[in-house]
Amino acid sequence: MTRWQLRFRPAAVLPLLPALALALAGAAAVAEPLVIAHRGASGYLPEHTLAAKALAHGMGADYIEQDVVLTADDVPIVLHDIHLEGTTDVARRFPDRARADGHWYAIDFTLAEVRSLAAGERRGADGKPAFAQRFPADRALFTVPTLAEEIALIDGLNRSRGATAGLYIELKGDHFHRAEGKDLPAAVIQVLEAAGWHRADSPVFLQSFEPATLRRLADEFRSPLPRIQLIAENDWGEVPGVDYDALVTDEGLAAVAGYAAGIGPWVGRLYRGRSEDGDAQVTDLVERAHAAGLLVHPYTFRSDALPAGIDSFDALLALFVDRLGVDGLFTDFPDRARAFLKDNRREGQ
Ligand code: G3P
Ligand code: CA
Repeated sequence: MTRWQLRFRPAAVLPLLPALALALAGAAAVAEPLVIAHRGASGYLPEHTLAAKALAHGMGADYIEQDVVLTADDVPIVLHDIHLEGTTDVARRFPDRARADGHWYAIDFTLAEVRSLAAGERRGADGKPAFAQRFPADRALFTVPTLAEEIALIDGLNRSRGATAGLYIELKGDHFHRAEGKDLPAAVIQVLEAAGWHRADSPVFLQSFEPATLRRLADEFRSPLPRIQLIAENDWGEVPGVDYDALVTDEGLAAVAGYAAGIGPWVGRLYRGRSEDGDAQVTDLVERAHAAGLLVHPYTFRSDALPAGIDSFDALLALFVDRLGVDGLFTDFPDRARAFLKDNRREGQ
């Protein structure tokens, strides 16, 4: 049995067998953590391009992340935002197609139009690269892929490399899509089914900031895939009406365990900086989530954007892996995470 199979099988049965889930989730807590390539190997190539996904596969990521939104003609595409202007040349190509709020919404463009855009490194509202030291932002050599294309790429690499990387799909802005009359979960499930990746043994996690979306996947779609409840801060305004502070109470975690296999908190939910005497201030969320039978996959680990009080990427990983015992981590640098785990002799044990 491969390392991947050992990891994935427990997660696949978590929604079905609560008692077994507790035991298996406990086992997962002491296993080597999953390396989840956040938007691909996005520290090296523009996020959510097929190039970044291929590089992540070559770097040995266990899972590769997709953020998914819909086009005007209901095609799931892999894009972090519900808007196109952060990573493409849509503003230059279609100057008159922004809405009144100044955003170019993916949902207003057909797949043919999206395909015509050049994609590159993320830029901020000021036009400057979000990460100055990454792939040059003036080289928009790429395009926005569909979810189906990305699955075909990863499946092909799984075959040609003889190494399995799974999908880690975030249904992005489901509440926005619903308000626009679009059914994002149905479209994503349809693509997964068509690809043969919507089975209990498919290497796929589904993630969302929206409890209602995850509950619908469980109850209406009867999805056999493990689900991850993402945890934000309430003041981010990620999803109107969702109280993330309540979700991470013991009562909230018990409720999450009813529809999800784990949580995906941002790093600030686990690490709160240094005290005056220099001690790392950590929370008990991992411990309490494990007690509720939940996996913990925090985001996002970046060597070029370390949290305050952390002076190296390895120190960051040591804190979260060795001290806190997370079960997986989203990182822009899957090679660095893989090297850390190897150096610490976790692999192959
Ligand atoms: O999905 C985990 C993490 O990616 C959430 O943050 O904004 O990068 O999608 P974001
Ligand atoms: Ca995401």
